[in-house]
Amino acid sequence: MNAARVLIVLSITFIGLCVNAGLTPRQPSAQDTPAISENCADCHEGKLETLSGSVHEIRIGDPNSTVSCNGCHIGDPERHMDDPDEYKLTNPADTSVQVMAGICAKCHSTSHQQNMQEFNVHAENDINCSGCHAVHSNVHPTLLKEREPELCYTCHLKTEGDFARAFRHPVADGIITCSECHLTLDETHRELSFRGIAEVCWKCHNQFQGPFPYDHLATVYFSTQEGGCLNCHEPHGSNLPRMTKQPYDAPNFALCSQCHSVPKHDNNDRHGSSFAGVPCNDCHVDIHGSYDNRYFLSPALRGQGCDRCHSF
Ligand code: HEC
Ligand code: HEC
Ligand code: HEC
Ligand code: HEC
Ligand code: HEC
Ligand code: HEC
Ligand code: HEC
Ligand code: HEC
Ligand code: HEC
Ligand code: HEC
Ligand code: HEC
Repeated sequence: MNAARVLIVLSITFIGLCVNAGLTPRQPSAQDTPAISENCADCHEGKLETLSGSVHEIRIGDPNSTVSCNGCHIGDPERHMDDPDEYKLTNPADTSVQVMAGICAKCHSTSHQQNMQEFNVHAENDINCSGCHAVHSNVHPTLLKEREPELCYTCHLKTEGDFARAFRHPVADGIITCSECHLTLDETHRELSFRGIAEVCWKCHNQFQGPFPYDHLATVYFSTQEGGCLNCHEPHGSNLPRMTKQPYDAPNFALCSQCHSVPKHDNNDRHGSSFAGVPCNDCHVDIHGSYDNRYFLSPALRGQGCDRCHSF
C-alpha cells in the first residue's frame, strides 16, 4: 500500500474514532503544542536536539515559539503517547508530495515550496520535500540532505559525468550551483524551471541578452523551448572549448552547418584561397548578436579595407 493511501485510511479511522468518542479531530495549535514536545522526547530520544540551533528549534515554554513536534507530525499526540502502536503519528517523509507540502505550508509557503508541490518534475515523480531536505539534520545549509551538487548526484548519476568533462560550468568548484539553473525559488517561469530557456543563461551572461541592433536568430527566435543558447552550447559541460555542442575550430564548422550551408569563403575569384581554413570566429566575432553589422563581423575588418568592396 502506498504512503498516501495509508494516510487516508489512517485519517478516516482517526476521524471515525473521534466521532465515536464525541471529540472533534485535534488541530495542532500554536499555544499548546511546544510544551507537549518535551514528552515526545522521552521516547524519541535525541529528536529535540536535532532541531536545536536550526530554524525549527522548539523553545518549550516560549509563548512565541510556534514550532512543535506535532506541528509536523500529524495525528493525535495524546493518544499516540498512550499507545504509540495503535495511534500513529505521520512521518511526513512517507506521505505524498501534496500531503507533505501541506504540512510544511502551515508555516512557510514560499514560491519554491509551491513549485516543488505543483509544477516541478520532482513533484510529478513523487519526490516530496524529504527527497532533498532533512529537517532532523542541521548539517548542511538550508537543511539539505547533502550539499549541492552531491545532493543532486545521488539521483542524477549521468549529470556527474557531464560535469567531469574538460570544459564545464564550475559547479564542482562551488562557484555556481545546480539550483541556480534548475530550481527557481521565485514566481517566474516556475513551470519552465527545468527546461533550457535562454533566460536561465541571461541571469549570469546578460551581455548576450540583447536585443541587439543585429540579432543572430539562432540565439533569439530559437530561444525558449527550441533551444536558444542550447543550439550551440551544452549547458553542463562539453569536451569542446566554450562548451560548444559541435566542433567549431577550423576546419570543422559543424556547429554552424547545423543551420547554414557554410558559404564557400575559400573559393571566390577575388581572394583565391586566402580564407581557406580560417576559423569563422576570426571574422564573425559577435556571434551572439552585433551592435555594428548584420554579419556579426569584427569592426576591425573595416580597418583592413574589406569595406571598400563589401558592405557590412
Ligand atoms: C511512550 C513512548 C512514546 C511517546 C511519548 C511518543 N512516541 Fe512516537 N512513537 C513511539 C513508538 C514506539 C513508535 C513506533 C510505533 C510503530 O511504528 O508501531 C512511535 C512512532 C512515531 C512516529 C512515526 C515514525 C515513523 O518512522 O513512521 C512519529 C512521527 C512519532 N512517533 C512522533 C512522536 C511525537 C511527535 C510525539 C510527541 C507528541 C511522540 N511520538 C511521543 C513511542 C512514543
Ligand atoms: C519542521 C517539521 C518537523 C518537526 C518540528 C519535527 N519533525 Fe520529526 N520529522 C520531520 C520530517 C520531515 C521527518 C522525516 C525525516 C527527515 O526529514 O529528517 C521526520 C521524522 C521523524 C521521525 C521518524 C524517524 C526518523 O528518525 O526519521 C520521528 C520519530 C520524529 N520525526 C519525531 C519528532 C519529534 C519527537 C519531534 C519533536 C522533538 C519532531 N519530530 C519534530 C519533520 C519534523
Ligand atoms: C511550525 C512551523 C513550521 C513548520 C510546520 C515547518 N517549518 Fe520550516 N521553517 C519554519 C520557520 C519559522 C523557518 C525560518 C523562517 C523562514 O524561512 O520562513 C523555516 C525554514 C525552513 C527552511 C529553510 C531553512 C534555512 O536555513 O533557510 C526549510 C528548508 C524548511 N523550513 C523546511 C521545512 C519542511 C520540509 C517542513 C515540512 C516537513 C517544514 N519546514 C515545516 C517553521 C516551520
Ligand atoms: C529537488 C530538491 C528539492 C526538493 C524536492 C525541495 N527542495 Fe527546498 N530547496 C532545495 C534547494 C537546493 C534549496 C536551496 C537553494 C539555495 O541554495 O538557494 C532549497 C531551499 C528551500 C527553502 C529556503 C528557500 C526558500 O525559498 O524558501 C525552503 C523553505 C525549502 N527549500 C522548503 C522546501 C519544501 C517545503 C519542499 C517540499 C514542498 C521542498 N523544499 C522541496 C531543494 C529542494
Ligand atoms: C531523490 C532523488 C532526487 C534528487 C535528490 C534530485 N532529483 Fe532531480 N529528478 C529525480 C527524478 C526521479 C526525476 C524524474 C526522472 C528523470 O528525469 O530522471 C528528476 C528530474 C530532474 C530534472 C528534469 C530531467 C528532465 O529530463 O527533464 C532535473 C533538471 C533535475 N531532476 C535536477 C535536479 C537537481 C538540480 C537536484 C538537486 C538540487 C535534483 N534534481 C535532486 C530525482 C531526484
Ligand atoms: C548553467 C545552468 C545549469 C547548471 C549549473 C546545471 N544545469 Fe542541468 N540543465 C541545464 C539546462 C539548460 C538543461 C536542459 C538541457 C536540454 O534540454 O537539452 C539541463 C538539463 C538537466 C537534466 C535533464 C537532461 C539531462 O542532461 O539528463 C538534468 C537531470 C540536470 N540538468 C541536472 C543537473 C544537475 C544535477 C546539476 C548540478 C550538478 C545541473 N543540472 C546543473 C542547465 C544547467
Ligand atoms: C549562475 C550563473 C550562471 C548561469 C545561470 C549560467 N552560467 Fe555560464 N558560466 C558561469 C560561470 C561562473 C562561468 C565560468 C566563467 C569563467 O570561467 O570565467 C560560465 C561559463 C560559461 C561558458 C564558457 C565556458 C568556457 O569554456 O569558457 C559558456 C559557453 C556558458 N557559460 C554558457 C552558459 C549557458 C548556455 C547557460 C544557460 C544554460 C549558462 N551559461 C548559465 C555562470 C553561469
Ligand atoms: C550560433 C551559435 C551560438 C549560440 C546560439 C550561442 N552561442 Fe555562445 N558561443 C558560441 C561560440 C562559437 C562561442 C565561442 C566564441 C569564440 O571563441 O570566439 C561562444 C562563446 C560563449 C561564451 C564564452 C565567453 C565569450 O565571451 O566568448 C559564453 C559565456 C556564451 N557563449 C554564452 C552564450 C549564451 C548565454 C547564449 C544564449 C544567450 C549563447 N552563448 C548562444 C556560439 C553560440
Ligand atoms: C540554430 C541554427 C543556427 C546556427 C547553429 C547558426 N546560425 Fe547563423 N543564422 C541562423 C538564422 C536563422 C539566421 C538568419 C538567416 C537570415 O536572416 O537569412 C542566421 C544568420 C547568420 C548570419 C547573417 C546572415 C545574413 O545574411 O544576414 C551569419 C553571418 C551567421 N548566421 C553566421 C553563423 C555562424 C558563424 C554560425 C556558427 C558559429 C552560425 N551562424 C550558427 C541560424 C543559425
Ligand atoms: C576572413 C573573414 C571571414 C571568415 C574566416 C569567415 N567569414 Fe563569413 N563572411 C565574411 C564576410 C566579409 C562576409 C560578408 C560577405 C558579403 O559581403 O556577402 C561573410 C558572410 C557570411 C555569411 C552570410 C552570407 C552568406 O553567404 O550566407 C555567413 C552565414 C557566414 N559568413 C558564415 C561563415 C562561417 C560559417 C565561417 C566559417 C566556416 C565563416 N563565415 C568564415 C568574412 C568571413
Ligand atoms: C577589391 C574588392 C574586395 C576587397 C577589398 C575585399 N573583397 Fe571580399 N570579395 C570581393 C568580391 C567581388 C567577392 C565575391 C562576391 C561573390 O562571389 O558574390 C568577395 C567575396 C568575399 C567572401 C566570400 C563571401 C561569400 O558569400 O562566400 C568573403 C568571406 C570575403 N570576400 C571577405 C573579405 C575580407 C575579410 C576582406 C578584407 C580582408 C575582403 N573580402 C576584401 C571583393 C573584395
